[in-house]
Amino acid sequence: FMKRRKKWSRYPPGPASLPLVGTMLSIDFHNPHHSFGQLQKKFGNIFSLQNCWTNVVVLNGYKTVKEALVRKSEDFADRPQFPIYEHIGYGKNSEGIVVARYGHVWKELRRFTLTTLRNFGMGKKSLEERVVEEAGFLCSAIKAEEGKSFDIHILMNNAVCNMICNIVFGDRFDYGDETFNKLSRLFQNSLDEEAGFLPQLLNVVPILLRIPGVPQRAFRAQKELMDFIDVIIDKHMKTWDPAYTRDLTDVFLKEMEKGKAAEENGFHYSNLRLMALDLFTAGFETTSTTLRWALLYMLLHPEIQSKVQAEIDKVIGRERPPTMKDQASMPYTNAVIHEVQRYGDIAPVGLPHMTYRDTELQGYFIPKGTTIITNLSSVLKDETVWKKPNEFYPEHFLDANGEFVKPEAFLPFSAGRRACPGEQLARMELFLFFTTLLQKFTFVLPEDQPRPWEDGHFALTCSPHPYLLQALPR
Ligand code: HEM
Repeated sequence: FMKRRKKWSRYPPGPASLPLVGTMLSIDFHNPHHSFGQLQKKFGNIFSLQNCWTNVVVLNGYKTVKEALVRKSEDFADRPQFPIYEHIGYGKNSEGIVVARYGHVWKELRRFTLTTLRNFGMGKKSLEERVVEEAGFLCSAIKAEEGKSFDIHILMNNAVCNMICNIVFGDRFDYGDETFNKLSRLFQNSLDEEAGFLPQLLNVVPILLRIPGVPQRAFRAQKELMDFIDVIIDKHMKTWDPAYTRDLTDVFLKEMEKGKAAEENGFHYSNLRLMALDLFTAGFETTSTTLRWALLYMLLHPEIQSKVQAEIDKVIGRERPPTMKDQASMPYTNAVIHEVQRYGDIAPVGLPHMTYRDTELQGYFIPKGTTIITNLSSVLKDETVWKKPNEFYPEHFLDANGEFVKPEAFLPFSAGRRACPGEQLARMELFLFFTTLLQKFTFVLPEDQPRPWEDGHFALTCSPHPYLLQALPR
């Protein structure tokens, strides 16, 4: 490695590398964005790490991340390999979308996802109507708590997961459903399995995964989750009638029918099951976690909650369900939701990218095949951009006249070719769920409860530590 560094005289600097483990001991993998923040102070916005013998470059701050992801979008559009997922079926020619290598099949599947999501928005019952309906069910379940202290985690998961279920499988789970509770636990456990030192090590030294029993033990929940999706997909295939389109799975099955050309474009059974898993993992926990942060901040800042409610009362009233059209007339609520995403910082290190070709960034040389970490946290809390980066301050998104503004450094969905394709759906869910909840309830911290922690628990996403709240009907 030292020899290689000499050859690449303009390779980014970084901490000293130890034999075998490289720089892995310099990073707290349960809190990587904090470790990256410290290294950024020492080495600047672009620094290098070495996970055993894998070269990693970490990009920090708005200017650097934007330049890489937007201006040099294709150079940074690839993904590294993730051997830890191979035991559930990811591999050559079956990569789904999230961890797919940059290329023809990924482009086809991404286009398919974007088009299908858009078409569902325009179907018989639009996605918007379905979110509003689900928000109504969520309110009924919250009302049933009768103002007592409770943890909203599972209910919120249930509501948001139902949206993805609806899109992918045309179905939903009733609140309290035992199967859903199991699914929700599996999700959490599978995220926890992917955090920390071990999965990082297994990804860069995949031979360790060949030790009998290692993947099964280390990633038990992940495997159970995949089995769960497989059962649903198989049932779906058995009940499929090509004359009707129930959901995204049916649209995919229709593509598969088109034969060899479609198969070469990635439309085959392996990708169907992996895409379904991808959409679940990428689209459910992220949005649900953001909404849990939103309620936590409302508990901590009752004055902000009151201002949102005043705006809801003025624009929507207490009875009519909110619509996306209302958003344009609700700058304060919109600003609060954006600030929840900025300050909540739920995907602090995004997803790993990989350089698709040799490239240069701000005078540094980064060779093809280097793993790239986009430190989104350093963008959302960039001191050169945000007035109060480490405070919950909705005014970041309001101009002097109280109109909504969106600074360019607002990148919770990342940017460029791999930017989140679910952004529009997520935005709609955040707005409609949040306004419906605050229209119907005031959320307060129970008197006997300690002030909830503002720092999160990192397991790919950063989620709030468990907290209780009371929902008082308005
Ligand atoms: C990727 C954030 C909701 C589907 C991503 C990435 C981020 C992100 C940071 C990584 C982008 C990159 O690699 O640079 C979020 C946040 C959400 C959210 C903060 C909610 C608040 C959703 C939803 C869906 C979704 C609702 C699906 C319907 C995906 C997919 C990818 C992705 C498929 C992989 C894209 C690719 O590799 O081409 N998301 N996401 N996300 N997200 Fe989301």
